[in-house]
Amino acid sequence: MSINRRDWLKTAFLGSAALTLSPLEFFAKNTPNFSELKNDDKTIRLCFNENPFGVSPKALEAMKENLSLSSMYDFKFADILCSKLAEKNQLKQENLLVSAGSSYLLELITKYVSLDKGHFIIPDPSFTIFEPIAEFLGMSKTVVPLTEHKRIDLEKMKNSIRKDTKLIYICNPNNPTGDLLSRQEIESFIKAVPENITILVDEAYIEFTNQKSLSNWVNTYKNLVVTRTFSKLYGFAGARLGYAIGHPKMIENLKKLQSWSGAEISVTTMAGAIAAMEDQEFIAKVLGNNQKVKDFTMSEFQKRGIKTVPSAANFVYFSLENYKENYFKKLKDAKILGGKTYEQNGKWTRISLGTMEEMKVYFEAIS
Ligand SMILES: Cc1ncc(COP(=O)(O)O)c(C=O)c1O
Repeated sequence: MSINRRDWLKTAFLGSAALTLSPLEFFAKNTPNFSELKNDDKTIRLCFNENPFGVSPKALEAMKENLSLSSMYDFKFADILCSKLAEKNQLKQENLLVSAGSSYLLELITKYVSLDKGHFIIPDPSFTIFEPIAEFLGMSKTVVPLTEHKRIDLEKMKNSIRKDTKLIYICNPNNPTGDLLSRQEIESFIKAVPENITILVDEAYIEFTNQKSLSNWVNTYKNLVVTRTFSKLYGFAGARLGYAIGHPKMIENLKKLQSWSGAEISVTTMAGAIAAMEDQEFIAKVLGNNQKVKDFTMSEFQKRGIKTVPSAANFVYFSLENYKENYFKKLKDAKILGGKTYEQNGKWTRISLGTMEEMKVYFEAIS
């Protein structure tokens, strides 16, 4: 039996009888039109910052080739993958931890910092999927709103540090705004933060920027841990592959919370990931499209008098303040799934960048 796209869309986000909403259920609830559109195969998905070109073709080929290994426990791919990632980042294998998506690593890091309870600091809005876990584990929090220019407010985050602060989360570029903090800004911040506080920098979208990852600092700043993902640039959102980069001691501690590190990732995905890293043609196509589409999107928003935030990522954050029509009704009629709403009673929203054709349909729909 195979699961087709239609079945998947039908089942996604349904079926939980939990009393409290998980972050994903919360997402579905706060994404206008989500339920109306989930059964429709023709929907244009501009909601999850996915890769509009799908999975890297080289990865897909490697996945198909290695599918038959699925019946066997694997003891090698995670090591090969870590050593390739280490080489790419000019680090050692001990600096790397791979996993089935970076969300899982955000969760693992949260569990690690919550061991002795304490306090954590997060920007808002941001990708704080781990927030309910930290609170469930007894952590308290300080939520720091963005600055008036929609930037993560490092100064206020620094001023929110308490004696029992264990974790500070920075998403760079930030989701949903796309704003990028410079390496200098972050380094000054790290230097000002006590060394016993873990600074988690989520770089899910760093490949879309011209800025280097902070990975080369993890041996210098032992409290820095960086997470990355294959979900965006390589199109692995459904295949699931992410990794954390940290000081060997940090990685060793995180692994202590796992019974068998890497076993949560399928061999097929790992084989694909190794190939994806070499697929330069696909990478160039995705990045080239993203820049072109972003320029087009920004100028179309500008023509319509819609306020945007400059984006370093594969999505754009904008205000519906000057949009007089029913935005989500327009999207629904055109079978487009847009992002969720944020800030000022939902005045702000985010749109993922698709292909040029998809964005033309989008702008036609909201015109
Ligand atoms: C900032 C950020 N971090 C992490 C993730 C999770 O990615 P993954 O698919 O690797 O779990 C996302 C997904 O959209 C994201 O936007």
